[in-house]
Amino acid sequence: MIEHHIPVMLNESLDLLITDQSGVYFDATLGFGGHTTEMLKRLTNTGRIVAADVDTDAFEYSQKKFLKEDRVSIYNYNYSFIDVIAKIESLKYFDGVLADLGVSSFQLDNPESGFTFRTEAPLDLRMDKTKEVSAADVINSYDEEDLADIFFNYGEEKNSRKIARSIVQKRLIKKIETTKDISEIISELVPENYLRKTLTRIFQALRICVNDELENLKLFLENSVKVLKKGGRIVVISYHSLEDRIVKDFFKSNTVVNLSPKEDPLGLIKKETSLKLINKKPIVPSESEIRGNYRARSAKLRAAERL
Ligand SMILES: C[S@@+](CC[C@H](N)C(=O)[O-])C[C@H]1O[C@@H](n2cnc3c(N)ncnc32)[C@H](O)[C@@H]1O
Repeated sequence: MIEHHIPVMLNESLDLLITDQSGVYFDATLGFGGHTTEMLKRLTNTGRIVAADVDTDAFEYSQKKFLKEDRVSIYNYNYSFIDVIAKIESLKYFDGVLADLGVSSFQLDNPESGFTFRTEAPLDLRMDKTKEVSAADVINSYDEEDLADIFFNYGEEKNSRKIARSIVQKRLIKKIETTKDISEIISELVPENYLRKTLTRIFQALRICVNDELENLKLFLENSVKVLKKGGRIVVISYHSLEDRIVKDFFKSNTVVNLSPKEDPLGLIKKETSLKLINKKPIVPSESEIRGNYRARSAKLRAAERL
């Protein structure tokens, strides 16, 4: 049986998130409900959770899981629509917003999802299966330069040009359709001991591209601040440096900035600030959590409070 998901930094995230036990919270990345289940335990009977997941499997599983729980409303929506979801729920503000980014263990381990190079599956990588473009479409139709840019920008892959060139040559002979096809192409280009890491970077790059992950994250952060109550917190757990940088930069650009006299000699520059950082440095999982859940190893938690 596939283990659906072990929630990451559960206590650390919820200790920071919940400021009012009777509040309404938004779980942006419901997944298989790990964080939501614990949140429910910490809320009173009048506390509520509005949750979203763009993945249909996660949505359907959690819909069944929380069927009898009238404190939870679930949307099969992209989290960037947090403001729209608030409107549908007739809510002006949430008391807190949680996002546990990336993919769940179920998505990674389910051979049919095509999220991993470890099993053979159609090269798909769409979380939202109603989206038109799959990873196979990208691989078979984008030109060499665009493919190289995707591998470099989203996977931080140094051999991006070489890999893109080879893909373009191979697809002239045969369409690239499965996770195995792409693994084979890359195995011809990199030494055995680099293969796993290279494939991880290429799959990350394709996933980010197909799901437009970085743009959605930026939109989500911007829209979250609009619907976050004063004193409410936004807590984000990210799993790679590109995501973490977006969260860090967003928080930084929205927090109090003390300009030096050199930068603002007459004190005339007014900086609009809407957030206060809760933790200056990201919180990372304990060693014992990583020992019990290897997938937690790259997690970084950042939190900010609405002013
Ligand atoms: C790490 S898992 C969350 C696990 C969850 N916290 C739990 O404990 O079960 C991330 C989830 O976010 C979802 N997701 C990723 N991008 C999304 C987006 N733009 N909008 C909504 N959900 C998204 C994925 O489908 C996945 O189920």
